[in-house]
Amino acid sequence: MTLTAAPGARLAGRETSAWAFNGTCPGPTLRLRPGDLLRARLINHIDQPTNLHTHGLHVSPHGNGDNPFLTIEPGDSLDYAIAVPTDHPAGTFWYHPHHHGTVADQIFSGLAGALLVDGGPAPDLSVADDLVLLITDTTLDGAGRVAAPSRMSRMMGREGELVLVNGQHQPVITTAPGAVQRWRVINGCVSRVLALRLADHHVTQIALDGVFLPAPADRDEMVLAPGNRADLLVRSTRSGRYALVSEPYDRGSLGMMGGGPSAAGPVTLATLVASGAAEASAALPTRLPAPSTPPDNVSRRRQITLAAGMGGMGMGGTSFTIDGRTYDPERDDQTVALDTIEEWTVVNTSTMDHPFHLHAWPFHVLTGAPAAGVLQDVVLVPARGSVRLRIPFTDYPGRSVYHCHILDHEDLGMMATINVRP
Ligand code: C2O
Ligand code: CU
Ligand code: CU
Repeated sequence: MTLTAAPGARLAGRETSAWAFNGTCPGPTLRLRPGDLLRARLINHIDQPTNLHTHGLHVSPHGNGDNPFLTIEPGDSLDYAIAVPTDHPAGTFWYHPHHHGTVADQIFSGLAGALLVDGGPAPDLSVADDLVLLITDTTLDGAGRVAAPSRMSRMMGREGELVLVNGQHQPVITTAPGAVQRWRVINGCVSRVLALRLADHHVTQIALDGVFLPAPADRDEMVLAPGNRADLLVRSTRSGRYALVSEPYDRGSLGMMGGGPSAAGPVTLATLVASGAAEASAALPTRLPAPSTPPDNVSRRRQITLAAGMGGMGMGGTSFTIDGRTYDPERDDQTVALDTIEEWTVVNTSTMDHPFHLHAWPFHVLTGAPAAGVLQDVVLVPARGSVRLRIPFTDYPGRSVYHCHILDHEDLGMMATINVRP
């Protein structure tokens, strides 16, 4: 397939000069199966360098695979070949550009899409609808241009005035009373933590970050850091209109910068409208495919320290670092032996939360954040807190990155490299 990044997206019902993959925001939904080879030519028709990242896929970071070190200059193209292993989990992933320094700008401007892996072990779900809800945010001016962030909003992580679901502002989702829908919710926002609630409902979470949970879990509120995904089963028992909102979420603040939740009240994302003849209420599954348990033969422990705050010598006295350094693609920050299990303690010394993300090798959360009981790829590290992770480095030698998924922080240097060597 071909993915062309170019200006001219229709967003929130308006013609804009925002960027899009293949003319739409989000870009086309890619559907793969375990064992597939994704061949994608990425053509760059925007005025910045770009590249492609398949967020959450357990695939090789090498060569023309899921390689964040590649650069496609304006006017150039590159042919990707990404081999999905035959035992890859079936679930919800996404893709977005990953060229250091421009990641936040490019996603804020519309470059993102869903990537679904079908097949593989899956629970027996008889759902009436299987929907992707790719949530992004942006700010448009009167002329349909994407607003540039202020320096302060880059520091805190920019949040857009418009929160969009599949590029639409507050769309309506229709259903019939009793019918079960699967919602594959992707937090594609550059910086915004989503705290989702559906009025008068609880929802049933069946997967996190593309992997089925050990058992379905009822949720009144579903917190998703930037980059996280959740698969939810939604069933309305009565006709009505129900708002899907994101509640204000307090990420903390940096020094003198404005604290408290960024939004004063809940932000409406969409409305679920249940109407028409009731369907026989379908049963929700009680069992999901057998989860993987964290392997316990740990061969090495490391501490990774995320720091951000005033008092540094960086931009306006604020620096965003991992282990005291900003990103350098030439340096190997961690060297790991292939086929080993490691335990990483990720410490956050700053006064705001940072979502930690590792490419290519998903991890188990052991402590410091709610443990999903399955492999995941983004975890929110609380302000002045830490999380402990167990990471199987099985498969895929090669170099890649880990970073804060508040993508303004990543672009400001809160990213580091990992080299997994055979
Ligand atoms: Cu969602 Cu390094 O990426
Ligand atoms: Cu990623
Ligand atoms: Cu951060």
